[in-house]
Parts: sequence; structure tokens; C-alpha cells
Amino acid sequence: MKVVITGAGGMLGQDLAAAADAVHHEVKGFTREQLDITDELAVRRAFEEELPAVVINCAAYTDVDGAETDRELAFAINGEGAGFVAAAAAAFGAKVVQISTDYVFDGLKGEPYVENDKTDAHSVYGASKLAGEKAVIEANPRHLIVRTSWLFGLGGKNFVETMLGLAEDQKELLVVHDQVGCPTYTRHLAEAIVELIDFERLGVMHLVASGHCSWFEFAREIFRQSQLDVSVLSGTTEMLGRPAPRPAYSVLETSRDDAPELPRWDHGLHGYLIARADAAGSSSQALQAIDANGALS
Ligand SMILES: NC(=O)c1ccc[n+]([C@@H]2O[C@H](COP(=O)([O-])OP(=O)(O)OC[C@H]3O[C@@H](n4cnc5c(N)ncnc54)[C@H](OP(=O)(O)O)[C@@H]3O)[C@@H](O)[C@H]2O)c1
Repeated sequence: MKVVITGAGGMLGQDLAAAADAVHHEVKGFTREQLDITDELAVRRAFEEELPAVVINCAAYTDVDGAETDRELAFAINGEGAGFVAAAAAAFGAKVVQISTDYVFDGLKGEPYVENDKTDAHSVYGASKLAGEKAVIEANPRHLIVRTSWLFGLGGKNFVETMLGLAEDQKELLVVHDQVGCPTYTRHLAEAIVELIDFERLGVMHLVASGHCSWFEFAREIFRQSQLDVSVLSGTTEMLGRPAPRPAYSVLETSRDDAPELPRWDHGLHGYLIARADAAGSSSQALQAIDANGALS
């Protein structure tokens, strides 16, 4: 099957291209330089030439704090651009997979969000992604909107890298305990999405790692599995004073029985740490020796 990926140079885009290629789909990935999704005509021309069966849109404005002051660009890419991708896919007979986020919710529910829970984005980023969901639904009836959260993977900046980078010269780190979510390994997510595109699974679907934790617990597990002696201090969101509001409780759950189940978040972390050690050419034996099953619940 011919699969086109937009935003293919990003963290999830790279893993999706690899996962689709691994099961012998014909993959054409467009980086931002190769295809800007805010250019409606360019998107149509690209899809007319490629004639994909499926388009997966990973292109996004993902700077959550930056979006607070860069509202227009965030909406142009995450809202309108997503609509252009979905419409061009429809014009040439393709279904579209749109990647969305837990930020479409207010984070106040206190229990896991399922697909048909009421959306109410509090940040500009979240509002722009919600605009994208609506644009995609209007433009292409054959859409699958995948909401996911707290991504980490080899191809981009992420929380694990931030923690490991800080640990190089700090032995004490303050990390918030009052935001809870589902850290999700992009390789696991990519494999699940590739599994889904073989079927006509449409609508909205929540796809995140199993289990949940706070950023504080996530940081502690990163250092435990990496065998680094760093003490993690528990802080609050208010103490950090970031420009964009974050959903406090953004655990996603699926109410669909046709959704694949992803491995646990701490198993994802384990896989990621091995993959990054392999990528760096260093031995992953020490990590492999750790029993990831004994990690956080
Ligand atoms: N990261 C997370 O924790 C997270 C959580 C939930 C949902 N998501 C969603 O998952 C998807 C993938 O995110 P990611 O983490 O892989 O982000 P990422 O690494 O920032 O990837 C996004 C890619 O989109 C590209 N891009 C930006 N504007 C574009 C445009 N106008 N046209 C074409 N490409 C453009 C970026 O290029 P440049 O780098 O050159 O700008 C980047 O390569 C996004 O839809 C995001 O909203 C992410």
C-alpha cells in the first residue's frame, strides 16, 4: 500500500516511516522542506503525483509555550494545514490519519479521558490542534484521528533527553508531580498506527502507552533504568511558571474495542533507552540487564 507521511522529519514521522517500511508498505515521506502543509496547492500537487492510499499527517507546530505568542502560525499549521492535507487526501481517494493530542482536554476530569469526552483546550496549542481535528473531520469522511500524549523517541527533543542532559551536570532536579499522563514511545505508537491503516478504522481513537504516571515519577524511572544517581525533587506546575497552561490530569483511555493496546510506558522507556544506546554505538547490555517488569506501576 502506498503511504504518504507529512512532517516526516519529526520525531513520530521518522518512526512511522520506519514502521511502515518494515511491513513493506511503499512509503513516501515529506519533510517540512519538501512539503509545507500550509501551501494548499503544493499539498494537492504532491498527492496527485503520489496517489497514496493513506496519508498520515505528522506535520505540526509543536512548541507548546511558543504557540501562546505565535497563535497565527500555530493555527495555520495545526488547524488549516491539517485541513489541507485531509482535503487533498480525499480528492485523490486516500484516507487520512491525523495525529492529535491530550491537550484538547482541560485536564480537570480526574479520571481517564475517552474518545467522546467533551473537549475544552486551555492552551493555544491545544486549541489549534482541536481546530485541526475539526478541519480534518469536515474535509475527509475517511479520517482516523489518533490522540496521543507525552511522546518520546529517537528522532526528536523529548523529556527523556532533557532529563538525561540535565543529569550530566546536576545531581538534583526539580520535576512536577501535579501533571499526570501517559508517556508513550513513538516506536510503539508508530507500529500500532501502521497496524491500524490496514483496516478501515475511522473516527477518533486514543492511542497511548498502558499505565500512567506524573512527570516526577517518569523522571525517577528514567534515572532508575539508566542507573544514574540523581535525586528528583517533587515540584508543582506553579513553581515552573511556564507560559502555556498544561492539562493537570491528561490520562487518555480508549473506549473502542478495535483499538490496539500499547505496551506499558515504562517498557516503552526501556526500549527507548536500549535503542538510543544502540544508536550511540555504546553497549546496551547494562540496560538489558534491568528488569523493566519491576518498574513503576
Ligand atoms: N511530542 C509530543 O509529546 C506529542 C504529544 C501528543 C501529540 N503530539 C502530536 O504528534 C505529532 C507529531 O509530533 P512530534 O512529537 O513528532 O513533533 P515534531 O518532532 O516537532 O515533528 C513535527 C514535524 O512537523 C514539521 N512541520 C512543522 N510545520 C510544518 C509545515 N508547515 N509543513 C510541514 N511540516 C511541518 C516539523 O518541522 P520543523 O522541525 O522543521 O519545524 C517537524 O519535523 C504532532 O501532530 C503533535 O501535535 C505530540
